[in-house]
Amino acid sequence: MPVAPLIPPPLSLYVHLPWCVRKCPYCDFNSHEARTALPFDAYVEALLADLEFDLPLVWGRTVHSVFFGGGTPSLFPAEAIDRFLQGASSRLRFAPDVEITLETNPGTAEHGRFEGYRAAGVNRLSFGIQSFDDGCLQRLGRIHDSREAEAAVKQAQDAGFDDINLDLMFALPQQTPAMAETDVERAIALAPAHVSHYQLTLEPNTVFAVRTPEGLPDEDTAWTMQEACQARLAAAGYAQYEISAYARPGRQCAHNLNYWRFGDYLGIGAGAHGKLTLGSEQSILRRWKHKHPARYLATAGTAGAIGGDERIAPEQRPFEFMLNALRLREGFTLALFRARTGLDDEAIAAPLERAIARGWLAREDGERIRPTELGLRFANDAIALFL
Ligand SMILES: C[S@@+](CC[C@H](N)C(=O)[O-])C[C@H]1O[C@@H](n2cnc3c(N)ncnc32)[C@H](O)[C@@H]1O
Ligand code: SF4
Repeated sequence: MPVAPLIPPPLSLYVHLPWCVRKCPYCDFNSHEARTALPFDAYVEALLADLEFDLPLVWGRTVHSVFFGGGTPSLFPAEAIDRFLQGASSRLRFAPDVEITLETNPGTAEHGRFEGYRAAGVNRLSFGIQSFDDGCLQRLGRIHDSREAEAAVKQAQDAGFDDINLDLMFALPQQTPAMAETDVERAIALAPAHVSHYQLTLEPNTVFAVRTPEGLPDEDTAWTMQEACQARLAAAGYAQYEISAYARPGRQCAHNLNYWRFGDYLGIGAGAHGKLTLGSEQSILRRWKHKHPARYLATAGTAGAIGGDERIAPEQRPFEFMLNALRLREGFTLALFRARTGLDDEAIAAPLERAIARGWLAREDGERIRPTELGLRFANDAIALFL
C-alpha cells in the first residue's frame, strides 16, 4: 500500500459506566442491571488505575473531549464523577475548552444531582428520551414516562446546563409517522442544543431480536418518518450534520465529531474501546477492556484488564475511515484521509470513482469528498465499496 505520514489526530477520552436500573429490551450496549448497591468508589479507583496504565500511549497529548457513556452514567453520584475528573485532569492535559458530556437517563434524575455534575466540570448532558409517547416508552421497557423526561430536562436547564442533547428513537413498535413527528416537536419545545434521532434497530442478542415486537414500521415508513422529522428539525434550526445527529449552529458534539473524523480516543472502563495513533511507530492501535464489571474491577490497572489489542493494518484503514467519515454531511478532505490513515489517495482511487459514478459521493474542488443525499441514505452500500 502506498504510504503517507500518519499524523496523531485530536484525542478524546471515553469512559464507560456499565450499569442501568433495568435492561431495555432493544439495547445491546454493555450494560448490566444494578441488582445490588453499586461499588461507585471502587469503580472510580479502577477507572483511574486503568487510565494510569494506558497513559504511556498518549503521553504529552491534550484531551479535547470526555464522554461518560453507558450504561447509565447518571446513576453515579456527582462526587464520584468529580473524583474521577479531578484524577483524570491531574494525569492528562485537558484543553481549556474541553467538552465533557454525561449520558443521563431521565428516570435517574435525583434532586440536586445536576448541580453536582456541573460543579464537577460536566458541561454537556445527553438525555436518553427515546420518545415522549407513554405507550411507546412502555413498549420500550423504559423506566420513565414523558412527564418525568420533560421535568428532568428542565431541572438540568435550571441547574445551568445549556448544552443538552436529547436522544430520540423512531420506527418504534406501533408508531405512526405522525407520532414520530410529535416526538420531534416535543423535543424542539424543550430547546435543546442538539438532537440525536436514531432508527430503532433490532440488535442480535437482545430481547427484541428474539421476540420481535408487534407493529414495527417497515423500511419505507421508517424513511418517511426520517424525512419528515428531518424537515421539522431543519425548520426549527437544527441542521443534520451526521446521519442521526442534528445541531443548532456551533453545537455539534465535539466528541462524536472526533470519532467520525477518525480521530483518536482512549477508552477506559468495562468494555470500553480505544483507538490510538502511535506516531513513533507509525501504527494505529485498537484496544478494548474486559466487558464484565466484576472482571474489570478485579483487573483494572493491569494488563489483565485488556480484552484485546490489535493494529489496524494499512489495507483495513480505508474501510475503517469511511465507516466514520461517510456518515458526515461534510464528508472528508483527501488531506484528512492521508493524515489519519497514513495512505496515499491512490489507496481509495478506484472505489471512490465507483461511488461517484453511482451518485453516492461527489467531489468538490478536487479536495473534498461529500456524500450526496442518496449517499447518506445508502451509506452502508457506499462504505462497503471500500472493503
Ligand atoms: C447508551 S444509550 C444512552 C443513555 C441511557 N443509557 C438511556 O438509555 O437513557 C445511547 C442511545 O442509543 C440509542 N439506542 C440504544 N439502542 C438502540 C437501538 N437498538 N436502536 C437504535 N438506537 C438505540 C438510544 O437512543 C440511547 O439513548
Ligand atoms: S438505559 Fe440505556 S444503556 Fe441502559 S439498557 Fe436502556 S438503552 Fe441500554
